[in-house]
This record gives sequence, structure tokens and C-alpha cells, in this order.
Amino acid sequence: MSTIKDFSYSHPIKTVLEAGALKNRLVDEIKALNADKILLVTDPGVLNAGLLNDAEVALKNGGITYKVFADVEPNPRTDSCYRGYEMAQEMEAGLIVAIGGGSPIDVAKAIALLMTNGGDLESYEGPEKYKNAPLPTICVPTTSGTGSETTAMTVITVKARNYKMTILGKNMLPNVALLDPSIFGKMPPFIAASTGMDALTHAIESYTNLIANPFTDAYGVEAIRLIGKYLRHFVAQASDLEAATGMLVASNLAGIAFGQVRLGNCHAMAHPLGGFFDVPHGVANSILLPHTMKYNMLADHGKYKVIAQLLGEDVSRMTDLEAAPYAVEAVEKLSKDIGIPENLGLYGVTQDKIPQMSKDAMLSGNIKINPRCTKLADIEALYRGAI
Ligand SMILES: [Fe+2]
Repeated sequence: MSTIKDFSYSHPIKTVLEAGALKNRLVDEIKALNADKILLVTDPGVLNAGLLNDAEVALKNGGITYKVFADVEPNPRTDSCYRGYEMAQEMEAGLIVAIGGGSPIDVAKAIALLMTNGGDLESYEGPEKYKNAPLPTICVPTTSGTGSETTAMTVITVKARNYKMTILGKNMLPNVALLDPSIFGKMPPFIAASTGMDALTHAIESYTNLIANPFTDAYGVEAIRLIGKYLRHFVAQASDLEAATGMLVASNLAGIAFGQVRLGNCHAMAHPLGGFFDVPHGVANSILLPHTMKYNMLADHGKYKVIAQLLGEDVSRMTDLEAAPYAVEAVEKLSKDIGIPENLGLYGVTQDKIPQMSKDAMLSGNIKINPRCTKLADIEALYRGAI
């Protein structure tokens, strides 16, 4: 096991887990932040599933003025953020509420940032590049994968460059995360599967990277345990409240972990797949994860044995070295059981973009903290193995 390195830890966000929170708690949390005009950011899937209905009744009854911005796509782009920003400006919103998966939450964070800083989103790319604290945000995740409701960053696609940029800063952290497992019942199985594997990727990458610390290890371990216990049940029946709660908590814990110590090669490689081919983020990570885990096995100091055990493998009598491949095998078995495809060909990903995608992946800060040293040729080989 790795020795403990210096670290700094801070995570000031109110997190509420309650079945029915969207209906019963949202208005109170808005009022607690002294807001009476809000922009509600979501996407067409959430809207059409009727997930906003109860919340809208509660908002009306609570005397909150609101508008709905639902024009958010997967791998959301800068133009969506600007359109939402315009709407928020027009209504003089004092708070942004996101109800959705990672995409609406990331767009909500970008709109909150634009509301107080204006200007060009691309100029805020990187850590702490903006001047003023964003508007307050409340996030209600409708998938259990992204963890974006608890991270101080937003990932937005710049289509002109086919590039997913990350904007981060301590003030980007949402004010409140409302975790409501009762709204997960209509989630399609493949969304449950791919977003759940994204959460597993967050947990495994933050647990095994070079700057993991005892806090994030604790979050990561519990997230992996919950995902091993509940993801299959959740994909089988998203309305199973116990499984939905387990996955929602796992996703949040993994989000806290990677929000503190970031990720690794898998996420560095997943972002260009979204930028070039619009592969949904969860799908990209799900398919890449076993490949990057195999690559990183050489750097393992015993954490792979823990992962294997947490995912149900009996490796107790094995050495760390003997047990490590079972962690990869457990992830592969889980992926197969829940219907994740084995390669990216199904998503139109072609070999000719590997050189450019690999260069973009190498720009990610996640490469430098990946447990095994990684060069451009390594990334190219990993892409070739997954396409
Ligand atoms: Fe992710």
C-alpha cells in the first residue's frame, strides 16, 4: 500500500439524501439561499420523463419565479451555455437549479459562472481563471454516475476544436446537492449501466492515482463496494429504491473523491472520444476502463487486490500480484453482465483520429497523476486496443 503523502482537504457542500427531496425539499433550499427567481436547467429526456412535474408544482406553490432551460445535449457545448445564460439574464435569475445528469449540471455551473463574470467561457478554462464567485447552484442528479453535483468543475465541449475543456475553481462547487433516489424509476437500463460504470471509473481512478489520500481512499473504497453490491440490481430495476439509493450515494462519494484528487488515463482518453465522436461520457469510460486498468496493473501497490475483493472476488489467499488481474476481470464481468459493449466501433469511432485524440488526451492533467507513467505512444496503443 502506498505511503501517505501531503494533502489538503476541503469539501464544503450541503448534501441531502431523501426519497422525495425534489418535491419536498427544493423550495426550502432555494429560500435558504435567499433566491426567488431561478433558472431551472435540464434536458429533453428529463423533461419528457415528467421528472420536473412535481418540482414545478412545488415551485409555484412556494412563490418561486422560474423558467425552464432544457436545451442541453450530451457532451454539452459552449453555445448551449450561452443560450441558457441569455435566459438567466433576461429573467434576472439569482440562483441556478440543475435537474439532470452530468450535462445539465455542467451547463448550470457554466451559466452560474457567466452570470457573474460574463465574457467568453473558453477564457476560464483551467483552474481559478475567473474573477467573481458564480451564482449559487442547487443540483439534483437524475443519473447515478457523474458526481458533478459535488465537484467544483464543469466540462464543456468546444466544438470548433472538438475539445472538452474543464473549468474549475473552489467557488464552482454547488451550494446544495439534493439526492433523491425516488426519481430514478424511469431510467433506461443502458443509461443506468453506463453512468454507473462512469461512477466506478471515478472511484477506481481516484483511488489508485498518484495523489490519492486517506480521505479520498475512504470515499473510493465505499463507492466501489456499493457499486459492486448494487449496480447489477439497479440496471435490472431502476425503481428498486435500495439499489437506486446505493448507486446515488456511490456516485456522490466517487464524485467527492475525484473532485479532490482527480482521475487518470481513462478519463483523459474519454474526453476526446466525446469531443470527436460524441460518444456519451459514461459509455466511453465503461469501454476504456478495463484497458486502462490492465495498463496500470504494473504500478499497483496492493489496491487492485482491495478492488477485486470489493467487487466480490475471493482473492484473500493471494499475494497482491496474484490478485491484481482479478480486479480487471471483475470489472470486465460487471460490464458484460450489464450490457456494456466491448469496443468503441459501435459508436462510429475510427482509427484515423487516434493521433489527434491521443495528443488531446495528453493535454489532460489526469495523465500526470496516472499511477503508471504514460507517453503519447502508450495512449495511442490503448485507443487501438479499445476501437
Ligand atoms: Fe466521468
